[in-house]
Amino acid sequence: MGKDVIIACDFSSKDQVMNFLDKFTGRKPFVKIGMELFYAEGPQIVKDIKARGHKIFLDLKLHDIPNTVKKSMAVLSGLDVDMTNLHAAGTITMMQAALEGLTRPDGSRPLLIAVTQLTSTDQERMENDLLIKEPIDKVVMHYAKNAAVAGLDGVVCSPLEAGKVHETCGEKFLTVTPGVRFADGDIGDQKRVMTPAEAKKIGSDYIVVGRPITAAEDPVAAYERCIAEFCD
Ligand code: C5P
Repeated sequence: MGKDVIIACDFSSKDQVMNFLDKFTGRKPFVKIGMELFYAEGPQIVKDIKARGHKIFLDLKLHDIPNTVKKSMAVLSGLDVDMTNLHAAGTITMMQAALEGLTRPDGSRPLLIAVTQLTSTDQERMENDLLIKEPIDKVVMHYAKNAAVAGLDGVVCSPLEAGKVHETCGEKFLTVTPGVRFADGDIGDQKRVMTPAEAKKIGSDYIVVGRPITAAEDPVAAYERCIAEFCD
């Protein structure tokens, strides 16, 4: 599985995202479509972007009873996405059901990645709101292990956790890492960041990059810089 840069297309309308993608006349980037764009534009936005030759990570973070997740995953698989995700908190049974739903009649399926604990959840919130008393790093690794046991392909994690995830779940278990910034760029609201080159060194398989590309004066140049640092 090759390393790749995934652009987080956090736009709220089709016009905005298509204007942005129009700039990429050469290499077609792997793009992440999140809830905002999907809920605004519906499944057609996935088909439209796919038709332009992009790979798609559909970031909808499913979490429901196994039967509902299985059936929903079958619908997403039919949209021909390349990667999608769910919450590991839904249990191993839910993750296994998701994989079943995602698998097409010919045996192919999109990559399935788990979210462990959201980075917006800290130790205090986890203990007080969720009543999970273990250290958050241990919980994250436990959820990653559950995802591996269920047969998933990997997890979304901080680049700082990628090495530990590979140690725990195996080298082939994918780490998809947001929180990437250029050495000379703005950090914005991200707290713990890494450059694309550092993420490569530490073993990330895919980096998810939003504003350093989408808000750049020259998004194509910023994307190519990510590719040069991370993939080449
Ligand atoms: O603009 P920026 O590079 O910060 O975008 C990162 C993308 O990765 C956003 O779509 C954000 O929602 C997503 N993400 C994240 N941290 C996580 C999980 C997802 O930043 N833990």
